[in-house]
Amino acid sequence: MAQKSETEDKVIIFDTTLRDGEQSAGAGLTVEEKLRIAHQLASLGVDVIEAGFAASSPGDFEAVRRIAQEVKGPTICTLARAVPSDIDAAGKALEGIENTRIHTFISSSDIHLMHQMRKDREAIMDMAVESVKRAKQYTDDVEFSPMDASRTDPVYLHAMLEAVIKAGATTVNIPDTVGYATPEEFGALIKGIFENVPNIDQAVVSVHCHNDLGMAGANSLAAVENGARQVEGCINGLGERAGNAALEEVIMALETRPDHYKAGTGIHTKELGNASRMISNIFGFPVQYNKAIVGRNAFRHSSGIHQDAYLKDHSTFEIMEPETVGWRGEALVLTKLSGRAGLRARLAELGYRLNDEELTNVFTPFKDLADNKGEVDDRDLHALMSEQHRFADTERTYKVGDVHVVCGNDTEPEAGVTLLCPDGEHRSSTQHGTGPVDAVCKAIDSIIDMDVELTEFAVNAVTEGIDALGDVTIRVEKDGNVYSGRGADSDIVVASAKAYVNAINRLLVIGEQDAGAAVTAPTETV
Ligand code: KIV
Ligand code: ZN
Repeated sequence: MAQKSETEDKVIIFDTTLRDGEQSAGAGLTVEEKLRIAHQLASLGVDVIEAGFAASSPGDFEAVRRIAQEVKGPTICTLARAVPSDIDAAGKALEGIENTRIHTFISSSDIHLMHQMRKDREAIMDMAVESVKRAKQYTDDVEFSPMDASRTDPVYLHAMLEAVIKAGATTVNIPDTVGYATPEEFGALIKGIFENVPNIDQAVVSVHCHNDLGMAGANSLAAVENGARQVEGCINGLGERAGNAALEEVIMALETRPDHYKAGTGIHTKELGNASRMISNIFGFPVQYNKAIVGRNAFRHSSGIHQDAYLKDHSTFEIMEPETVGWRGEALVLTKLSGRAGLRARLAELGYRLNDEELTNVFTPFKDLADNKGEVDDRDLHALMSEQHRFADTERTYKVGDVHVVCGNDTEPEAGVTLLCPDGEHRSSTQHGTGPVDAVCKAIDSIIDMDVELTEFAVNAVTEGIDALGDVTIRVEKDGNVYSGRGADSDIVVASAKAYVNAINRLLVIGEQDAGAAVTAPTETV
């Protein structure tokens, strides 16, 4: 592994999991969930957290404000279109709080100007400059993005960057909004900016790459090679459409190859695994097995030849030590003999700091699982903690009580479900279905009396073996909005019931967060 050099530059890591990541189709987080993720991002040591888009909904406004108030360490940023009302909402969300940033953006490519904005270059330039000036009234730290920069006429792009820096932008972010650029082209674009924008030394050059052609990470790194010193992205590569650059990949490329990039980060890389698992659990987006850095196979050696060489010397087939990215594999396990102190200590290492009551709540399911499975590893613990965190703090939601099913190849599947309802009552229903999960969902529907459509259903085993916890992901759709739910249990029908109820709870909580909206979600760029 290459050594760090004394003279390497620092690349600012800007995490937008809570903003662009939340734009992933089928994602939707509650304020509490965003806060938990933001605390984990702070433990990871990211420099900037884009906590949301304050003007887009009351829920986003509250999330930005609470994260800015409660999460210490990173700069907390909110996105704003280049219009006064958005900038004012951003300023209000961050009011009175230190270490904050407003990130304002407007489209700059002719394709967007013609078809989306229906404005000419001069009008757009004025809006860009005015928005930066307005944002400066709220905070010194202002970032500006020309959206679709990689398809923008470079001469116009350079003029726009010069003008916004003159107006006070301290970071200029170059988005490859549609993931169209190749690494060579994107590197050249950044080089051109350094060569043609006279005041570029007064701002940090940032990049924000989308992954439509699978090149977001490579494009971000090509930008670093050409002088960019901020990279934006999301953990697990979440984000609009095919997602953004996966931050864990960019970070580990910089950390593993400082000899090549001559740049590093201030990231506590050991927290990457925890961040990835927490974000996957909360978003309800499983991580692909062979995903670089955080996939469950990322450090597993399967072929006999590889195993033999690896056992002689790890460097033969491993370029990073798994521990440096918080990948613990199955080495550390708890058993039914483990006590409260052991469980508490292990959970603290995984980033969950519990008070006595929270520990008591998780101890019983832990013991049940250890009784069933024998050994409980980190993946099980993450799944158990996700169950604990699922809206445990709210009185607006439903909780799964008893679940019974009768099914088989000669029986019409039947499910009986009892839910603890928000009014404190237990209600039960028994229904038939095409299979046990369908019957369970129908029983839940009849108790909650809500019309949702189940659009996606997936079961994964949390660990290996027949006794593994089943991890069910469900997506439901209502009024054109998609909500995800996740549930874990050693019985996959019970896990399905939990996931379905979790999706409905999320729908209720997010709907309530945004109800009576003073602000409505923007559908237009301006
Ligand atoms: O992809 C994009 O262009 C964006 C901007 C708002 C930075 O997300
Ligand atoms: Zn984006």
